[in-house]
Amino acid sequence: MNQKNSLNIDQVREKFPGLANGWAFFDNAGGTQVLASVVERVSDFLLNKNAQLGGSYAVSQEAARSLMKGREAMMKFVNAGRPEEIVFASSSTVALQNLVRAMAGQLREGDEIIVTVSDHETNIGPWVSLEKIGVRIKVWNLDRETLQLRLEDLDALMTERTKLVAVTHASNIIGTVNPVGDIADFVHERGALICVDSVALAPHRVIDVRAWDIDFLVFSLYKVFGPHYAVMYCKYSLFIELDNLYHYFYDKESIPVKLEPGNANYELAYASTGIVDYLCDLGRQTGASGTVHNKIAAAYERIAEHERAIAERLLVFLRSRDDCRIIGHDHGDHPDRVPTISFRFHGRDAGDLARRMDGFNIAIRYGDFHARRLIEYLDLANANGVVRVSMAHYNTLDEVDALVAAFEQILA
Ligand SMILES: Cc1ncc(COP(=O)(O)O)c(C=O)c1O
Repeated sequence: MNQKNSLNIDQVREKFPGLANGWAFFDNAGGTQVLASVVERVSDFLLNKNAQLGGSYAVSQEAARSLMKGREAMMKFVNAGRPEEIVFASSSTVALQNLVRAMAGQLREGDEIIVTVSDHETNIGPWVSLEKIGVRIKVWNLDRETLQLRLEDLDALMTERTKLVAVTHASNIIGTVNPVGDIADFVHERGALICVDSVALAPHRVIDVRAWDIDFLVFSLYKVFGPHYAVMYCKYSLFIELDNLYHYFYDKESIPVKLEPGNANYELAYASTGIVDYLCDLGRQTGASGTVHNKIAAAYERIAEHERAIAERLLVFLRSRDDCRIIGHDHGDHPDRVPTISFRFHGRDAGDLARRMDGFNIAIRYGDFHARRLIEYLDLANANGVVRVSMAHYNTLDEVDALVAAFEQILA
């Protein structure tokens, strides 16, 4: 990447007012800081466009247009084909619980669903709940050596009764990106559907549901510089087949509202347009043109480039320690790594290390991050799980140096 395309970090940080409070935030996989433009749009909606949808009067029509702008922005973000393929939900967890409820009517006793051991519980638990109607759940384990999902292991699990494979796009602990396009092809060839959890990927890489032929996909806006809200993509032809979760006088054709019982949160949906505008600007600065999605893709290339450098700065330190076990790829420039870096120091309690970091005004986190099955599979449940340093593109090399210096003091 040439100099022109590298991020201007000062300009980037100015867009995030929360970064000015003296903390170095390395808990971004927990939740990122929010763009000022997103906050302004929440307030703009509530102050200037606020009315219930469905009225004939001008403000109600404006509110409806604002919600639609949010849907269209998210359609472009994931490169969906229609705004109705975008479902808003209070969280990714709720979105997937609703998806499972709406799909249950299509499943029969003896049907099979495959989940991975490496997913956050959000993309496991709702599917496991189908056991009560006789659905068989199988677990796709990681290769213990590489900590990667292998298609040959998936092959061994799939039968003609397999209806769906639920898989994480990037683990929120290991930080490895899974090739969901290849997995989707593999799953489709065997007659099943794919449901992808992109929550831990979305802040770091572009999403393209059409290029990868994804059936269902979720991500959380509060981890992508936005508000506490989430998005689910449902492929149109499959969405139409799902049951209606709303009032009886809605029906299968009522998309997307049949999966948004009650109302979407208008102000948060509208505010999500700020995320897309921000990424478009970052992309445009590289000279990217064409569709909004093209510009977003260009923005993510810049983001990934910077993230590789800051991740590697920390990983150099972690690799230099003979008492450190890095969980996942140990080089920041590995093409399949996002800067969500988990590790353990031999004989040290993860909780104790993270809490001592608080005193340096550096925010990190420890635990199992609701990927408890993974932590147990990797035998990491003792000593309070793992320490996780999760970076975003607004983190600086100086912040990483301060983090490393703090670790050196704490570990001395
Ligand atoms: C990979 C992953 N999936 C799902 C979730 C849950 O998202 P939400 O809080 O929107 O339900 C998280 C939250 O940490 C996550 O990291």
